[in-house]
Amino acid sequence: MTVLLRIDASARLEGSITRDMTDRFIEGWRTSEPGAQVLSRDVGRQPPSIVSEASIRAGFTPADQRTPAMCDVLAESAILIDELRQADVLVLGVPLYNYGLPASLKAWVDQIVRPGETFSFDLERGDFPIESTLSGKSLVVLSSRGEFGFEPGGIRDGWNHMNPHLRTVATRLLGIAAKDVHEIASEYQEFDDERHHRSREQAFLDAAELGSRLAAARRTPCRDEEART
Ligand SMILES: Cc1cc2nc3c(=O)[nH]c(=O)nc-3n(C[C@H](O)[C@H](O)[C@H](O)COP(=O)(O)O)c2cc1C
Repeated sequence: MTVLLRIDASARLEGSITRDMTDRFIEGWRTSEPGAQVLSRDVGRQPPSIVSEASIRAGFTPADQRTPAMCDVLAESAILIDELRQADVLVLGVPLYNYGLPASLKAWVDQIVRPGETFSFDLERGDFPIESTLSGKSLVVLSSRGEFGFEPGGIRDGWNHMNPHLRTVATRLLGIAAKDVHEIASEYQEFDDERHHRSREQAFLDAAELGSRLAAARRTPCRDEEART
């Protein structure tokens, strides 16, 4: 049975396009695997704490040397890491905010990337001392943007710092292979015109189709081939 970790990062509930996209993806997944388990983490409504001097000190103290106060500081991070570990697929519903990640999702990333828990650090590895201790997961990024034209050659080419950031986090810090990162976006939300309606409906269809296809691919022996987008 697949475990999906659904993370919603929109600050709004009403009218949220990304929340609808995560719904569609999971509905699609369940058409192929009705018994899939879904863990939900709503960082948009309940943002994780941002890192602090105390949490950094506690995180970098070996587990057997931590004081009770340090363990308390890390309790939230431990819960989020436990959810991450259980998940086979991370499904992010994530708006573009000011050309980057919503702060709530960045706070989540900073809580789950932790030495000794999700990565190891070894200078013997030369210029790349960090290595994720996770592997085999997939990442699905379902996003919505008010503007448009962020694609290569588009009028806002290079302005979207969210998708590249999440790809780097996935591949460099979460042990996710580049081929297992999947992205769908709805655009033009701020224009509220025909272009937006078309883009949003296509994104909903694509999210459902991707969910169904990835779930079906997990059941077949040629899963890597079929999961490619
Ligand atoms: C604080 C904030 C910042 C935003 N910044 C951008 C932006 O830089 N570029 C953009 O295309 N849209 C931007 N938008 C528009 C959102 O990406 C868009 O409304 C999206 O649909 C929000 O996701 P949601 O519908 O799930 O809430 C911003 C919206 C908000 C609320």
